[in-house]
Amino acid sequence: MERTVVQITLTGLLLALASTLPNKNDWDIYSFHINSTVTSRYATTVITSRVVNRMNESKEIEFHVRIPKNAFISKFRMFIDGQVYEGVVKAKEQAQQQYSEAVSRGESAGLVSSVGRTLEEFKTSVTVAAHKKVTFELTYEELMKRTHGKYELQIHARPMQPVRDFKVDVYIHEEAGISFIDVKGGLSTKALANAITKTHADKQAWVYFYPTADQQKMCDSCGDQGMNGDLVIVYDVSRDNGLGEIKKSAGYFVHHFAPSNLPRIPKNVVFLIDQSGSMHGKKIQQTRTALIHILNDLAEDDHFGLITFDGNIFHWKQELVQANSKNLENAKNFARNIQDRGSTDINQAVLQGANMLNVHHREGSASILILLTDGDPTSGETNLEKIQSNVRQAIAGKFPLYCLGFGFDVNFEFLEKMSLQNNGVARRIYEDSDADLQLKGFYEEVATPLLTDVTMVYVGGTNLTQTNFSQYYNGSEIVVAGQITDNDIETFIPQAVAISVRNGHNRVWAYLTVKQLLDKELKLSGPEKETAKNEALELSLKYSFVTPLTSMVVTKPLGESIDVLHKPKEGETPQRGQPPVDQPKSQKTGRGTRLHPHQGWRLSNTGKAYGKRIHHITPMFSGWWI
Ligand SMILES: *[C@@H]1O[C@H](CO)[C@@H](O)[C@H](O)[C@H]1NC(C)=O
Ligand SMILES: *[C@@H]1O[C@H](CO)[C@@H](O)[C@H](O)[C@H]1NC(C)=O
Ligand SMILES: *[C@@H]1O[C@H](CO)[C@@H](O)[C@H](O)[C@H]1NC(C)=O
Ligand SMILES: *[C@@H]1O[C@H](CO)[C@@H](O)[C@H](O)[C@H]1NC(C)=O
Ligand SMILES: *[C@@H]1O[C@H](CO)[C@@H](O)[C@H](O)[C@H]1NC(C)=O
Repeated sequence: MERTVVQITLTGLLLALASTLPNKNDWDIYSFHINSTVTSRYATTVITSRVVNRMNESKEIEFHVRIPKNAFISKFRMFIDGQVYEGVVKAKEQAQQQYSEAVSRGESAGLVSSVGRTLEEFKTSVTVAAHKKVTFELTYEELMKRTHGKYELQIHARPMQPVRDFKVDVYIHEEAGISFIDVKGGLSTKALANAITKTHADKQAWVYFYPTADQQKMCDSCGDQGMNGDLVIVYDVSRDNGLGEIKKSAGYFVHHFAPSNLPRIPKNVVFLIDQSGSMHGKKIQQTRTALIHILNDLAEDDHFGLITFDGNIFHWKQELVQANSKNLENAKNFARNIQDRGSTDINQAVLQGANMLNVHHREGSASILILLTDGDPTSGETNLEKIQSNVRQAIAGKFPLYCLGFGFDVNFEFLEKMSLQNNGVARRIYEDSDADLQLKGFYEEVATPLLTDVTMVYVGGTNLTQTNFSQYYNGSEIVVAGQITDNDIETFIPQAVAISVRNGHNRVWAYLTVKQLLDKELKLSGPEKETAKNEALELSLKYSFVTPLTSMVVTKPLGESIDVLHKPKEGETPQRGQPPVDQPKSQKTGRGTRLHPHQGWRLSNTGKAYGKRIHHITPMFSGWWI
């Protein structure tokens, strides 16, 4: 068997890249289709690649695609010579055993690895006999998260050569109606723009992208190796009233709730800015820039506080002050003069920030604590669990803590756990020229609180996903899924909402439940942690999702390696052949590791409540928080 595929790592040279590309004379991708079907924001995408071995000897043929980080792979199949080889999702430990056996026979494992901010790479290969064909088929599923008032379906196309029969088909069905649909991304511009067809008819929309082989060489990021870029389908659904939308089928329901016609709530926001020595240079500059922009965006009835910290804590003002023009000018001057120095006392910084919000609590305002750091705690309290327990005690569920981890030297798991324990989320800020925009973009997501302390109540509903949300921000969305007791529609659905007969809501329920159990598993400890983990594992297996707790085992034709595919952690760049179960030594940071949900969107940053009966929702709004 001759190997024509050279393995590359993320740091590989361009030269190495060139040699991985299929040689026209060796094998040819004669068809490449991407088919996405979106129903109620739940996207199922199938990538089908058909390849022929043009040589008169057997060749190793590679399948190599990029999918959104947020997605769970649910199916992978190879069709070779009338045989189907299908991946099976197994518990990680079990897959590990098969993997070890394969390794002991000197075989390598397939893998999924992180690429950049939003994508993951899926890679596998198989040996195909002379003049034979292989079809690769990968299915992945994701629930789209609404941010900045829209949904975005990202489709990455990089078939590694111009393909005669290349197609992207997207079909969207939204019962509430599609208010707009746009196609963006690098592949939607210039020479490729006229390869796109978009049709929009009230509840349905279709996007077709059929570039010719010549067009595939002509776009900005394209060349002799064909296309390499994104097609991003951007859309939103119509929202007529405050009820949101409840869809149900086969005993399951999904409730999307995103009111936007509510008055904003003034906020009390405290920014905790790490100015330790490691922030030196561009990071501190970008932080200053972002902070100044953010201050400019505060509304006059907002109150804010600024704390910078290294080994010591510096309050700009001891108290929260109103965002009037005089205070803002002073604060911006302070921001312009933030200098990097010293170590990192995260514990004191968060405790003092929490204290500020506790002391200056204002009835009818939404309090928010935002921590920006680029490193581990190095002074004051440095025991991570102790810090988490101090912080939890200080915040006591009263407001959310958002943690922004700048770069890759942060212990992101620590920040993530601390956020989740305090009703917030953690976000990684990538060290890049647009870091200030990432910071500002995050702030904008939480800039307009519309509701606080949200509890969703479903009479006649059971096995609900998360129903309590600390705050709901304009442009975001609350999604709750569950099962309907005895499948009794009458007592459950408000009359104003159309009933869908489409299938698939049980998968939305499973997807949300798994994501939330993984969050829970991260923030809990002891027996509760085990329970959450076991439930997440059980559902991952039942619905065949490749999650951080499961792996997919792909058995290939006789005599070939077994592939074990596993979902990487945020920031992880595994080496080829890395075992599916985390090992401390393989970690870039050298820290002990644990199974943990990869950084994905979470629901805990959204929210709005209503009372017992869904059809009472609108009148209740005005009474609850003003
Ligand atoms: C895309 O997938 C859907 C759902 O499986 C299917 O109904 C449809 O025919 C597919 N479209 C194409 C062009 O293959
Ligand atoms: C097929 O293989 C034979 C012997 O290995 C070689 O002589 C011949 O040129 C090959 N034909 C093609 C089309 O590659
Ligand atoms: C919320 O967002 C919508 C849509 O972008 C906008 O029309 C509305 O004014 C916003 N509400 C507030 C209070 O800013
Ligand atoms: C859903 O709830 C019912 C009881 O209401 C319970 O019997 C069933 O096991 C639950 N299913 C799951 C998957 O948790
Ligand atoms: C959700 O909030 C309600 C009302 O505040 C409370 O009674 C309930 O215990 C909360 N549930 C969870 C799971 O936190």
